[in-house]
Amino acid sequence: MKMSRTQLYRTLDQADVGEWEALKVLADQSPWRQTFHIQPEAGLLNDPNGFCFFNGEYHLFYQWFPLGTQHGIKYWYHTSSTDLVHWRNQGIGIAPDTIYDSHGAYSGSAIEKDNLLYLMYTGNTRNKDWKRYPFQCIAVMNTQGHISKLPPVIEHVPDGYSDHFRDPKVWQDGEYYYCVIGAQRINHTGCAVMYRSPDLQTWTFQGELQTFLPSFGYMWECPDYFELNQQGILLFSPQGIEPFADSFQNIYQSGYMIGTPLDLNTCEFDHGDFCELDHGFDFYAPQTTLAPDGRRLLVGWLGMPEIDYPTDHQGWAHCLTLPRELTIEQGELRQRPVQELTQLRGQRYHVNHTVDNQHHLLSSMQGVQYEMLVQISDIQATRIGIELRVGNNEKTVLYYQPELEKLTLDRSLSGQPLALEYGTTRSCSLSLDEGTVTLHLFVDTSSIEIFANDGRKVLTARIFPQPDSTGISLFAEDGSACFDVTQWDLLAKEEQ
Ligand code: FRU
Repeated sequence: MKMSRTQLYRTLDQADVGEWEALKVLADQSPWRQTFHIQPEAGLLNDPNGFCFFNGEYHLFYQWFPLGTQHGIKYWYHTSSTDLVHWRNQGIGIAPDTIYDSHGAYSGSAIEKDNLLYLMYTGNTRNKDWKRYPFQCIAVMNTQGHISKLPPVIEHVPDGYSDHFRDPKVWQDGEYYYCVIGAQRINHTGCAVMYRSPDLQTWTFQGELQTFLPSFGYMWECPDYFELNQQGILLFSPQGIEPFADSFQNIYQSGYMIGTPLDLNTCEFDHGDFCELDHGFDFYAPQTTLAPDGRRLLVGWLGMPEIDYPTDHQGWAHCLTLPRELTIEQGELRQRPVQELTQLRGQRYHVNHTVDNQHHLLSSMQGVQYEMLVQISDIQATRIGIELRVGNNEKTVLYYQPELEKLTLDRSLSGQPLALEYGTTRSCSLSLDEGTVTLHLFVDTSSIEIFANDGRKVLTARIFPQPDSTGISLFAEDGSACFDVTQWDLLAKEEQ
């Protein structure tokens, strides 16, 4: 049942007695609760926010509407971890409790200064005619985890831009701090703008990022800028991009452009094409941070806006992706699951099998939550692949067509259907790597993350199979291929 606007804009203080607890009871009964992904206890999660390493641990917040599974008034929920694997729920980070964030503490980022963590976010407000007015706000967290708000630091949208102005991502370069903010020009095209500050409190508008994309969608959400291997990378989530061949199939997109480092004075950014970060069904609004050991880490929302998900009726919606490490190798962006995830590995299974024009259901492997490494070599077949979560009329299929050099994820039979209007398959190009295809998979109760050929392509999706759909099957059509498969049970994360 859809909530009314009044219901959606109630804070936790305004909820009925026991309302949130009742939602939590419902969520606890859901058969699709994840076991090693960050998910809300109840309510709706969306973007990752404030991802950082501070005071000896990682902090990761997320957008949260506590009282239902639609997009209502947003909080920042706080989680922390020492190892990027076991996350501890820390409760509400930022509540929408001032006149500057009265209609939601929207997305933003974190940076450390003087032993304090500055959380810069968009305060979303609306007037009685429901006209939006964004403030860029700051909250400060001390080493005890106590968070307090400062007055807003950017109170006006600069001339030439609409009220779709949000999601500051902040970084430091030399003696200045910079932030990029997602924006919409008054001609309804999307872009990102940049501000500069000596102290995180006084911000000066530096200008719009000068990209080669003057008209690329109607809004860019969640921009992020960083440098890797002396190259500049701009991530953003554009809305309003038309599907093209196998690309841009989801309602909204998330991608990156690699270029020479952004000119922090002129805002010029000389870059290559916009590429999608993830070729699956459910991935949006990612954010990166720099780990203390110099790795660039990324976490995304394992979900999509404006889509009904099966758990919407079960008191909770969405989760975050596993953390990924980003690298640039031979000019290409690679994404690999962080190495810390190997801590979750339990029992290991292994098979090596030549499959010749057949489907082969593995008798020694099955599961609901696992990690798997599949190496396919000696490929003579026209189509090869693996079926996961196989059960009664259910399967999630991942296949490769060597002649087309194409990898496809098919969730048409994955279980409870969702987002059918956006299609049931996702494909991306993938060259053979010395004649082989390597698929590194993380399967949780209701999701799959696929890292292909050592992080060259990633596909992420929610799936909603029956609990007893646990089979795993290999197949090769019109010829043979050799499969080397290693599977690890993944041990559920520590109680939170
Ligand atoms: C992206 C987004 C952001 C906004 C937040 C609100 O999913 O729309 O632009 O800050 O979600 O929850």
